[in-house]
Amino acid sequence: MPDRHLLLLPGDGIGPEIMAEVKGVIAWFNAGGAGFTFDEDLVGGAAYDAHGAAISEAAMEKAHAAGAVIFGSVGGPKWDKVPYDVRPEAGLLRLRKDLGLFANLRPALCYAALADASSLKRELVEGLDILIVRELTGGVYFGAPKEIIDLGNGQKRGIDTQIYDTYEIERIARVAFDMARTRRGLVTSMEKRNVMKSGLLWNEVVTAVHAAEYPDVKLEHMLADAGGMQLVRQPKQFDVIVTDNLFGDMLSDVAAMLTGSLGMLPSASLGAPNPVNGRRKALYEPVHGSAPDIAGKGVANPIAMIASFGMALRYSFGMTAEADRLDRAIAATLDAGTRTADIWTEGKQRVSTAEMGAAVIAALEKAA
Ligand code: IPM
Ligand code: MG
Repeated sequence: MPDRHLLLLPGDGIGPEIMAEVKGVIAWFNAGGAGFTFDEDLVGGAAYDAHGAAISEAAMEKAHAAGAVIFGSVGGPKWDKVPYDVRPEAGLLRLRKDLGLFANLRPALCYAALADASSLKRELVEGLDILIVRELTGGVYFGAPKEIIDLGNGQKRGIDTQIYDTYEIERIARVAFDMARTRRGLVTSMEKRNVMKSGLLWNEVVTAVHAAEYPDVKLEHMLADAGGMQLVRQPKQFDVIVTDNLFGDMLSDVAAMLTGSLGMLPSASLGAPNPVNGRRKALYEPVHGSAPDIAGKGVANPIAMIASFGMALRYSFGMTAEADRLDRAIAATLDAGTRTADIWTEGKQRVSTAEMGAAVIAALEKAA
């Protein structure tokens, strides 16, 4: 298996449309000798329709073997009624869990050209550069019991369980502190220690890891609700935010809107380094979902998807110069006034998904 082998999982809704633009970007890097190869497979509703499961065993094997998985989006009203175990989202959750992708990096960058597309005032978001580090394989997403039981008196009970063990908090805290060292040196840890035992432990463990291993980084603690409020009040106060699976899901959607559109936010989900070769299992996906309302219309914004591939260049393949070049190409495309519908404002050029992809590639050509 070549070193630079990818598994592309376009998924449902706008997934295939935005993945098509990533293929163009891969082809562009390959023309320059990057040597990427890829396989493609089904996930989500598309996999359910074909195999009756949200991801097939064959696709899981390919995911384990790939240098990186590039994932589009899953779900849609078509599959609202399918059994819970095989709902489209189950494919994504299985990939995260089985590949051990505990560290989800969600950078929220506000490009100067897009500051007016944000629902917040320009001065609050212009130049925003924060990183949400979300724990991705624990917490209430995976804790057992997770069930609906019949109480027999005409009542049912829905149960989800929030569980965190010390090691899970330690390893995600280390990722956050390591990232902060390469940035502005500040970590804000968010939990609900005033209500939740798991929050109390989270706070204790993050504090201990900090004291023992990262005295050079500044650590602050914030209750997660207050954190949500501060994110929309004064987002630039943050550098790295570390939080659990559920709070991270919510806070990253908030952070996405600060940047102008959910269509702008990429993410990387990383496992632990392999003790033999140091490589991490990894999956890259946009933060946004499958947007069934606009699927098939060719209007979706491919930037979050393309920038997710950029994170793969950076974190899986050590191609820092190429990743920087892709980021610059995206910024230049926005500076030139090229906009998909979600980020369009008066006076800008409104383009389709494919035209945005082509514009980024044209900018890659120019970005020396
Ligand atoms: C995300 C998504 C997923 C999540 C869904 C699709 C299961 O919202 O990646 O943020 O809740 O983690
Ligand atoms: Mg989400």
